Amino acid sequence: MNAIIETSNLVKEYEQGGRPLRVLKGINFAVEPGEFMAIMGPSGSGKSTLLNMIGALDRPTSGKVLIRGVDISTLSDNDLADLRNREIGFIFQFFNLIPRMDALGNVELPMAIAGVPRRERRKRAAELLELVGLGDRFDHKPSQLSGGEQQRVAIARALVNDPSVLLCDEVTGNLDSKTGDEIMHLLRELNKEQGKTFVIVTHDPAVAQMTDRLVHIRDGQIVAEKRLR
Ligand SMILES: Nc1ncnc2c1ncn2[C@@H]1O[C@H](COP(=O)(O)OP(=O)(O)OP(=O)(O)O)[C@@H](O)[C@H]1O
Ligand SMILES: [Mg+2]
Repeated sequence: MNAIIETSNLVKEYEQGGRPLRVLKGINFAVEPGEFMAIMGPSGSGKSTLLNMIGALDRPTSGKVLIRGVDISTLSDNDLADLRNREIGFIFQFFNLIPRMDALGNVELPMAIAGVPRRERRKRAAELLELVGLGDRFDHKPSQLSGGEQQRVAIARALVNDPSVLLCDEVTGNLDSKTGDEIMHLLRELNKEQGKTFVIVTHDPAVAQMTDRLVHIRDGQIVAEKRLR
């Protein structure tokens, strides 16, 4: 067993109007190191919930989530946060950048919070912005960047702690198709050249087709799985 992420009989319920709403209904799922895979499914099928579970943002109602073989239910909140910070990067549809900070500041922020000295975090943020193709946009605020550029800043920020897994929730959902394509190519490059593992949630069949493996989820269950390359 060398999956980087694995779930067994993963169930998630939310408390809704005083009764449980079962959103994930027993998901068995594994991601191998270095994979570039997609999760597709209708709105409300539980994709984001699943991503939050495998990213250790939330805990299952029952069943297991293993990250690098560690059952996250055995970890304290602190240890869980440490594991998440070390292993997992998140990228979202709406970029989630801080409007009053420039690109460099946004990428530096997680390091500032972690107490990394200013000089060091500047250097690391600058390297990462170069890596995502924004070497000439350091002092632009989000409102002064295109959608694709904002997503690149968010990608650089997600790479700060050198995570092994990147979890992407509709990361092209707010971009036109050409820009979305460019972002997908950047993700693929990070996968190929740095060996990062990607789990990409998407509505868009064109995006899903760019990955190596496709998992379909419907109503909280995996209903199909297909290897694409
Ligand atoms: N915190 C919560 N409390 C109660 N219900 C929730 C909560 N989060 C999600 N849900 C419900 O769980 C179901 C799955 O939500 P989820 O966000 O995982 O869907 P999704 O597949 O990501 O949909 P979309 O494609 O629209 O983003 C939805 O019916 C939603 O209303
Ligand atoms: Mg969602």
